[in-house]
This record gives sequence, C-alpha cells and structure tokens, in this order.
Amino acid sequence: MSDLSRSEQEALARRLEDAGWGVVPPEQHQAAWDPSFQNFWDQVRDTTLISPERGWALAEAVRYVIRNNVPGDVAECGVWRGGACLLASLVMAEEETEPERTIWLYDTFTGMTAPGSEDRIASSGQDLADRNPEGWWAAGVEEVRRTLERSPLDQRRFRFVPGPVERTLAETRPERLAILRLDTDWYESTMAELEQLYPVLSPGGVLIIDDYGHFTGARTAVDRYFARRNESPLLHRSDYTGRVLVKPGNASR
Ligand SMILES: C[S@@+](CC[C@H](N)C(=O)[O-])C[C@H]1O[C@@H](n2cnc3c(N)ncnc32)[C@H](O)[C@@H]1O
Repeated sequence: MSDLSRSEQEALARRLEDAGWGVVPPEQHQAAWDPSFQNFWDQVRDTTLISPERGWALAEAVRYVIRNNVPGDVAECGVWRGGACLLASLVMAEEETEPERTIWLYDTFTGMTAPGSEDRIASSGQDLADRNPEGWWAAGVEEVRRTLERSPLDQRRFRFVPGPVERTLAETRPERLAILRLDTDWYESTMAELEQLYPVLSPGGVLIIDDYGHFTGARTAVDRYFARRNESPLLHRSDYTGRVLVKPGNASR
C-alpha cells in the first residue's frame, strides 16, 4: 500500500467497500486506545509476539488488579524476548502503590520443548511434531534482561525461573498471584502451569491464555483442567486466540 498515492489508496478502499470489504486504517482502528497504552505499546512491540489486542488485555488486567487491590504477583510462562513482561512493568510503574509486586518469568530460555500428540495448529490441523518446532522462539536470559532494562522498575523485581516448566514449577512457585499469563503453547506445559499456578491465583485475579484459539494443545489443557474441577468459567476473547478469565470469588473476602 505504501507505494500507492493517497488518492489511489482511497480509490482502492472504495472499490473494496463496494465489494463488501470495509477498510479501516490502523490509526482509526486503534483510536479507542488511550494514549498511555499506545505509548507503552510503542516501547514493547519489537520484543513481543503478542498482538496489540492481547497487549491491551494484559495492560487492562494489570490496571484492574492494582485498582481493585487484588493481592499477588504477576507471572508469565513463556516470555520469549520479555516484551509482555516489560509491558506489565510499564503499567505497574504508572499505576502502582504499595505493595510492590514481583514479575515472575518462567521460560526454558532455549526455546520450545518438544510438542506432544495433542499439539496441532487449530486452523489447519497440522501436527506440530511434523514441523520440528523444538527450539523455536529461543531467547536467552541476557537478551530478556536487556529488554527489561527499559523498565523503570527496580530490576530485582523481575524473577527469572529458567528451565522447562514441567520441572521448574514443582520447585519454584510464587505464594500468590494476581495475574497469570500462559504462553508456552503446548498441552503438557500449559497443563503443568494450570495445575501448579491456578490454585495460587487470588480470587478476582486474572488468567490470560495466549494460544487458546491458535494451538489445540493449549485449548485442550484449559478445557480439561476446568472440566476436572467441575468449573465452566467465562473465557473472554481478546482476539482470535487470546482468552481472559477472572477467577471467581471475591478478592476482598
Ligand atoms: C510464543 S513464545 C512466548 C511469547 C511471549 N509471551 C511474548 O510476549 O512474545 C513461547 C515461549 O515459551 C517458551 N517455552 C516453550 N515451552 C516451554 C516449556 N515447556 N517450559 C518453559 N518455557 C517454554 C519458549 O522458550 C518461548 O520463549
């Protein structure tokens, strides 16, 4: 589009509209976002794979738990270059009063572990084992630390837990969480995260699932975990793949 003149772009948009396709320029599409979020997003977008809509959902979740005094830390499982954690920290720095919350970063820091039989691409059904994705999205601890140096928060508030979550979560867990963000994509890791961390999420805390729509493994783990608990929570959709759940219960009781 960029090599078209403005009038050519407008003519093209009109033709598409006549054919039933509305064209919304990005700046108009994003106009409802507050300037503070746009500013944060501009600072993190080169260090995260998440969409702006999923970034928005995370930023709103951080605002919500702080404004409503939902107790606990923030954890992300699957951080890649750390951009989502940086985003959470920018919102925390803007909003926060006492107590200070820790941001927990769970990752192998060497990329994806091997997928299992449950793990497919939801839209195509393609078996991920056929794509040999082990080691995809590798970003080391030093690279993530460089991302987090952009944060105004004291660096000691970031807690790195390196290794596969199937092992590390059994040993190193926060006492209480206000936000739990799951982004390791596969069934086994997502199930381990739910089993180990959902019980420490405060009532009124927010669970965010990045890959419910994109990967079958993440979706199956979430559905099976809540079925086992005999719970049918509302999974609110942030975009085609992101889901947001507020844990039932009253945080102040
Ligand atoms: C899609 S990326 C995460 C994207 C990130 N949240 C962002 O904001 O861009 C998936 C991450 O999960 C990590 N990962 C995959 N399987 C894991 C496992 N079993 N244990 C720990 N980390 C894992 C990978 O190393 C990778 O950094």
